[in-house]
Amino acid sequence: MKFFLDTANLDDIKHYAAMGLLDGVTTNPSLVAKTGKSLKQVITEICEVVDGPISAEVISTDKKGMIAEGLELAKIHKNVTIKVPLTEDGLGACRELAQQNIKVNVTLCFTSVQALLAAKAGATFISPFIGRLDDLGQMGLELIEDIREIYDNYAFPTEILVASVRSPQHVRFAAKIGADVCTVPPKVIGQLMKHPLTDTGLAQFLKDHEKSSE
Ligand code: E4P
Repeated sequence: MKFFLDTANLDDIKHYAAMGLLDGVTTNPSLVAKTGKSLKQVITEICEVVDGPISAEVISTDKKGMIAEGLELAKIHKNVTIKVPLTEDGLGACRELAQQNIKVNVTLCFTSVQALLAAKAGATFISPFIGRLDDLGQMGLELIEDIREIYDNYAFPTEILVASVRSPQHVRFAAKIGADVCTVPPKVIGQLMKHPLTDTGLAQFLKDHEKSSE
């Protein structure tokens, strides 16, 4: 399973990229707004750090506007992936951008039939938001299972990019289900590395080492 970092924070991206953990990055307008920079600047800087798909989301809600924005954003770097919402216009824009060999990430997916439509429209990635479904008392990971089954039934090449990830358990089950990509917030990627037994075990080893002869 590929790991994308779900952030627009360049320091976090540099930190985890230096560890070789990142296959790509996802941003959204909320994440970009936190940086105080323009979308173009944010995406340009990320592309200099990570050599993999970098998602940049359009703001237009009509097909023509999304295509125009997508074409502009795609000029920034070959790795830029255009994020469009899973609306009728978004699917239309996805189709046209895909036909121009531009990678598209269809975002804000909440049902498996929406994911089916995105695959038909030529999406490179589908982004089901599992945490937001969990927040409503639904089972976000069941959506990933359903999409995996549907895409495998018909050998759709669209990659399942698990989004709205809130915990290490989300990452664990995304990998068990066979998601192609999990986009993980910096906080969760940090949690994945930690275990109290690692810390106490290391402390004990270091303490015992002090008793060793030189
Ligand atoms: C990434 O592509 C999504 O925009 C992001 O994972 C949404 O996460 P949230 O539900 O925590 O805002």
